[in-house]
Amino acid sequence: MKKKSVSSIRQMKKRGERITALTAYDHPTARLLDEAGIDLILVGDSLGMVIQGRDSTLAVTMDEIIYHTRLVARAVHQALVVADMPYGSYHLSPEQAVANAIRVVKKTGCDAVKVEGGSDRVSVIRALLAAEVPVMGHIGLTPQSVKRLGGYKIQGRQLQDIERLITDAETLQEAGCFSLVLEGIPHPVGRIISRKLEIPAIGIGAGPHCDGQILVFHDMMGLNEAGTFRFVRQYAQLAELIRRSLTDYQQDIRTGRFPSLEESFPLEESIEAQLEEIYGSYLEDEQT
Ligand code: KIV
Repeated sequence: MKKKSVSSIRQMKKRGERITALTAYDHPTARLLDEAGIDLILVGDSLGMVIQGRDSTLAVTMDEIIYHTRLVARAVHQALVVADMPYGSYHLSPEQAVANAIRVVKKTGCDAVKVEGGSDRVSVIRALLAAEVPVMGHIGLTPQSVKRLGGYKIQGRQLQDIERLITDAETLQEAGCFSLVLEGIPHPVGRIISRKLEIPAIGIGAGPHCDGQILVFHDMMGLNEAGTFRFVRQYAQLAELIRRSLTDYQQDIRTGRFPSLEESFPLEESIEAQLEEIYGSYLEDEQT
């Protein structure tokens, strides 16, 4: 399969093809996603929560995003790889955003970056594009705004907020974003924005009418037991599977069922015969 670009992702919307997206933070997971044909892999700052066990994404650093994006990009042959710009890496000035984004592109080989926020990010997005870095926007429930929002709350419930979200989406498209994440908004709002935009709107908790969907890998696979949102559908219960496997592993060791001789290295027969002569008593089965 040919490597996807920001323009091939945009073309998908024009052709009416829905875009599949997921987060990944490591090489083996990214390889599985890529092989399965997932269109877009986001190295999200959600890693602060699902990998580092924090209660928000705020402490994630540029170095951590670079480290995880490198692992992911190395595994990917066809998906578009997007690195999330962490909190504080683009909030000071467009110059700061460009310096950090160029660093992430050079060090990881990612295809684009994602920044959270609405019309207030236009100067940052324009500066990134002028520096040749494609940008994905992210509006609605933006986790980096958790302190200002007063929690992880669904956005766009009142008309005034809905109109602001629609304006933000149009402004980000005009600023040059190749796509937008719409997170945590009522489905009619997701529908209006997706219809109004020419660029793809990728939903997470934004209803079924978006141009594509993204989920956090650990949520959809049942690995995040810290509590998930109504919009998460679990496609597997990996935490349960891991727990059962760990019980079996310990039982097998304690009862001597693991490892078996088939899982061990034999000796050449002639050497084993010599060993028998010298160390025979040590090689006998224990009496029970
Ligand atoms: O950090 C992340 O994983 C994200 C997705 C939830 C869109 O921003």
